Amino acid sequence: MAHNDKNGSQTWQPATQLVHGGTTRSPFGETSETIYLTQGFVYAGAEAAEARFNGDDPGFVYSRYANPTVAMFEDRIKGLEGAEAARATASGMAAVNLALMASVKAGDHVVAAKALFGSCRYIVETLLPRFGVESTLIDGTDLDQWKAAVKPNTTALFLESPTNPTLEIIDIAAVADIAKSAGARLIVDNVFATPMFQSPLKLGADVVVYSATKHIDGQGRCLGGVVLSDEDWITDEVMPLVKHTGPHMSPFSAWVLLKGLETLPLRVARQAESAGQIADFLASRNSIARLIYPGRDDHPQAEIARRQMTGGSTMLAFEMDGGKEAAFRFTNALNLIKISNNLGDAKSLITHPATTTHQSIGEEARAELGISDGILRLSVGLEDPADLLSDIEQALSAV
Ligand SMILES: Cc1ncc(COP(=O)(O)O)c(C=O)c1O
Repeated sequence: MAHNDKNGSQTWQPATQLVHGGTTRSPFGETSETIYLTQGFVYAGAEAAEARFNGDDPGFVYSRYANPTVAMFEDRIKGLEGAEAARATASGMAAVNLALMASVKAGDHVVAAKALFGSCRYIVETLLPRFGVESTLIDGTDLDQWKAAVKPNTTALFLESPTNPTLEIIDIAAVADIAKSAGARLIVDNVFATPMFQSPLKLGADVVVYSATKHIDGQGRCLGGVVLSDEDWITDEVMPLVKHTGPHMSPFSAWVLLKGLETLPLRVARQAESAGQIADFLASRNSIARLIYPGRDDHPQAEIARRQMTGGSTMLAFEMDGGKEAAFRFTNALNLIKISNNLGDAKSLITHPATTTHQSIGEEARAELGISDGILRLSVGLEDPADLLSDIEQALSAV
């Protein structure tokens, strides 16, 4: 008889849940989770097939609907987040799209903070209106703007916190109250905070989405995403979209990401500790015009960060004196830290948002979001912080 680890979210601490939660073993009793690399499932007879399809037998039917390895990933992260249900997707963008599409129909209205990852902003600003869903973008740090933007037909509020790349903090509990009074669903993209430092559902959000591509994998291998929420909404609104439009996660990615979850607390704690050291170092340098790190008291929303986050961040942003030219010179002088637009990786990665991730939104939108030409975003990895600091120091000298 195979021994399975049930979700122990009632009693297990997060680190234990991330190693054991959701494990389902085959009769061989393997230690590491099995990759069920299969499209379909065979049935003992025609009656058994009928029972699966009409729901009398809750087993698997087809991997576009659900798959045992993907289900292990969903159960593990569901237990960590304290959510009733989860659906894994092929990428973070598939998760964001799924959460929004499952919340609207033609004639509805969405309010979102304008400081969004570029593709998220494209869905809200460009894609939804094409299908008859109005959207309003506001300054997410201003609660009055959320209140003023809500209309009788508003069905979803959407935000990320900390934001990409300027690490603004939005008061999730306060926006959740506004969503509740409006009868709308609050969707939080929790990528930058990670599930280790922020639990939006516990702060009153209705839905949390992740790009599992980032810290959950954490080693730059595969893309993935997940939508977490209550059972009824996932069953009634999310599942039909998953079944009929096919944004599902592959079993192989689910296996990689299950392994990523096992080490997530250790990696994120170490990365945030190093990020804090680098932030303190940069704050003391004259050539840095502005340093933004949610774990420091000089962060513009430090009080909200302390209230809703249990750690600083693995990410920091800073503005070089001398604009784009200085930012490029600094970036090109780095040896250890790599230039890449990804984040949450074991390798420290730096990007110049104005010419990469936020190039397409245009100069006016960048100015509105405080993304000047001198801003750099650093995702701190697992290297020894002493090596990272000496790389940064020699690059600053080169500038
Ligand atoms: C805040 C945020 N949300 C969503 C995504 C999209 O994730 P993916 O690249 O896995 O589709 C990203 C990717 O960078 C992101 O930074």
